[in-house]
Amino acid sequence: MSIADIAQALRTRVAGRVTQDASLAPFTTFRVGGPARVLLEAESVDDLRAVGELRGDLPLAIVGRGSNLLVSDDGFRGIAIRLGRAFRTHELKAEHVLRLGGAVQLPAAARLTARLGLTGFEFAAEIPATFGGAVRMNAGAHNRSMADVLLSAEIIDLSSGQSRTVDVQDVSYGYRSSSLSNDEIVTGGTVRLEPEDSSVVAERISGYLRWRRENQPPGRSAGSIFKNPPQDSAGRLIDEAGAKGMRIGGAVVSEVHANFIVADPTATADDVWSLIWSVHALVKDRSDVDLEPEVRFLGEFARR
Ligand code: EPU
Repeated sequence: MSIADIAQALRTRVAGRVTQDASLAPFTTFRVGGPARVLLEAESVDDLRAVGELRGDLPLAIVGRGSNLLVSDDGFRGIAIRLGRAFRTHELKAEHVLRLGGAVQLPAAARLTARLGLTGFEFAAEIPATFGGAVRMNAGAHNRSMADVLLSAEIIDLSSGQSRTVDVQDVSYGYRSSSLSNDEIVTGGTVRLEPEDSSVVAERISGYLRWRRENQPPGRSAGSIFKNPPQDSAGRLIDEAGAKGMRIGGAVVSEVHANFIVADPTATADDVWSLIWSVHALVKDRSDVDLEPEVRFLGEFARR
């Protein structure tokens, strides 16, 4: 089937919107990169099942908040999937158990826990991610991460069409990683929290947001570019290597925090990509540390 045929077949099957050659830049925090051949904004688990069945040989990519993603200037030669409004729901399941849909934004969810008088999710207030994306990569801040609060995750496997709910113990979680495969989409899940005075929770959230404003740069970035190496800090190593202010085209290493690359409105994905690997080489030369990118790459990039 041609791309146009796949897009058309999808349109007849799904409730969500299907677009051909849709730019992915607006769906990422870097705001750079080219189009996906097909973009599906899924509005039900059946929509997701349909894309699994109709994809043919096309690769799939799940795009959450796009805050940890660099899309190539040439775009992505596959089907990109975003979870639509139908996945932006929440529900208090039991006294201290909150169910969140995969497309819920973490900062909004954190503010919700303050209103509900629940503690444990404050760290999420400063993470620009969807719940589904955060569960997949075990996003975290201030020494807490999703694995610390998660009870269960609702998953659909696009290769088999099977959906299931897994207990957190059955997912293997590490630092900014999980055992979930590429074809497994997190459509929702539950978190276990503790009761606490609303104003105390709100105050803690304000403290985290203040910390972020003081320690991390504003502008178009993907948060930390590299993972912290064991017992060390990527930001410190990059700073020590003298990379702050280093620029390629419209991409610059932040003066506020060395592990952030900020993209000007003129930046291309190639600028960001080249700067990432220049920083990598600089740190390798200076400290003999092989930094591992935290940001995910989508599409084809120049050879390193
Ligand atoms: N540092 C420098 N120079 C810099 C930046 C940092 O020397 O330019 C030093 C700091 O002085 C500090 C150390 O590096 O001693 C660590 O820096 P920071 O406290 O800013 O934390 P981080 O390890 O860089 C991590 C997460 C962030 C998260 C913060 C707060 C990673 C890779 N990064 O940053 O997560 O917001 O802690 O909890 O784990 C993200 O993952 O995208 C992200 C932003």
